[in-house]
Amino acid sequence: MTAAVDLRNFALTVHVTSSVGLLGSIAAFLALAVAGMTSQDVHMVRAAYPAMDLIARLVIVPLALTSLLTGLIQSMGTPWGLFRHYWIVVKLLLTVFASVVLLVKIELVGHAARLAAEPALSLADLHAAGIQLVVHAAGGLIVLLVPTALSVYKPPGMTRYGWRKQYGKHSPLA
Ligand code: HEM
Repeated sequence: MTAAVDLRNFALTVHVTSSVGLLGSIAAFLALAVAGMTSQDVHMVRAAYPAMDLIARLVIVPLALTSLLTGLIQSMGTPWGLFRHYWIVVKLLLTVFASVVLLVKIELVGHAARLAAEPALSLADLHAAGIQLVVHAAGGLIVLLVPTALSVYKPPGMTRYGWRKQYGKHSPLA
């Protein structure tokens, strides 16, 4: 095996591990968010939010950024290209969208973790803090299932730019 193939396989391994790991970490986050929103055990609810804060900052954000970065490397470093195939453009848009929402909304998790440390707050107040977190985690999970399926099926369909790159001035779409 040549060094170039080794490097390409290594980059793909990092991409698949971070991307699929991202889905798993969001699923764990969602399980805790549902517990935070519904559990009648106050100790469970107070423990769930700080745990989610850790998972979000130390696992979900790094995995999302790694998935995005290694996806860009997979696209630009191989004949796939970044803007030649619709399935790759859709993956890029959905992953960027999910990462932006994640970074914009991450403070919600820190806020819930701080509420969990307030002894005066009732169980109902703590439950309420979980609603947005459940919605965002479930939404993120559903959105990111699309890039996963697209990666496996790789549906045909080339962009106009892709046709031009592949067939030059002989492209029917040139
Ligand atoms: C959470 C989002 C993502 C998930 C779950 C995901 C998942 C995957 C998986 C499972 C593969 C392996 C498919 C195979 O080898 O048959 C793959 C390959 C690939 N991904 Fe992603 N990916 C994501 C984001 C991205 C992004 C943002 C880009 C581009 C900017 C991208 C570009 C690629 C490319 C070009 C390949 C093909 C690599 C090759 O076969 O040489 N991915 N992805």
